[in-house]
Amino acid sequence: MKDFDVKPFEKKVWLSSPTMHGEEIQYVTEAYETNWMSTVGANINEVEKKVAEKVGCKYAVALSAGTAALHLATRLAGERLYGAHKPNEGSLQGHKVFCSDMTFDATVNPVAYEGGEAVFIDTECDTWNMDPVALEKAFEIYPEVRLIVIAHLYGTPGKIDEIRSIAKKHNALIVEDAAESFGATYKGKQTGIFGDYNAISFNGNNIVLTEANLIQRGQGAELRHGCNEIAA
Ligand SMILES: Cc1ncc(COP(=O)(O)O)c(C=O)c1O
Repeated sequence: MKDFDVKPFEKKVWLSSPTMHGEEIQYVTEAYETNWMSTVGANINEVEKKVAEKVGCKYAVALSAGTAALHLATRLAGERLYGAHKPNEGSLQGHKVFCSDMTFDATVNPVAYEGGEAVFIDTECDTWNMDPVALEKAFEIYPEVRLIVIAHLYGTPGKIDEIRSIAKKHNALIVEDAAESFGATYKGKQTGIFGDYNAISFNGNNIVLTEANLIQRGQGAELRHGCNEIAA
């Protein structure tokens, strides 16, 4: 095993906590006063529109949490790959899925919810995200796998080009968990655009906080199963 010269930071880096700048309470009050306190309303429409514009995708749909967005993304990917499933089974029943091994558990839990089996892919030390070398190795062992779930941790995009080209070579779909990287770019493009299904989160400890969490369709991806307008 390679030895790394890891030096501790001089100053502790804290997990981010939300900062408010004044306008937030205005929008909360507006939603309250106009009685749009539900899963629809002008503010949610606007957030969906703005996120799609910012990320550069066609559509974004708000759900209750990044966790829900990832679950929906994973389910849709499973249905697209393996077709209709029995009512008491998940869309990934009996299928293996390659997943980032260092991430928040909401990245990988949906694989289990959908009856699949996560095969964890090791992390590389440049970006702390999925190692493309390990991913390629995993395809040698399990060539039948058709779904990869990747996360970009701490606002740092992973090795997207390498991972996308491996996915293409093996005819696999990607669910991109950009929960922690909304606003981060890779070669000039926003994260949250690189997967076939992409999720971001507005949880208070992520980069931007709102009360909506989004799922997006990938750039130029074929629109199927009605997922051009996913809603929950
Ligand atoms: C990498 C990652 N994925 C998914 C999530 C889940 O998002 P949420 O808390 O909005 O459900 C988080 C939460 O912060 C996260 O860090």
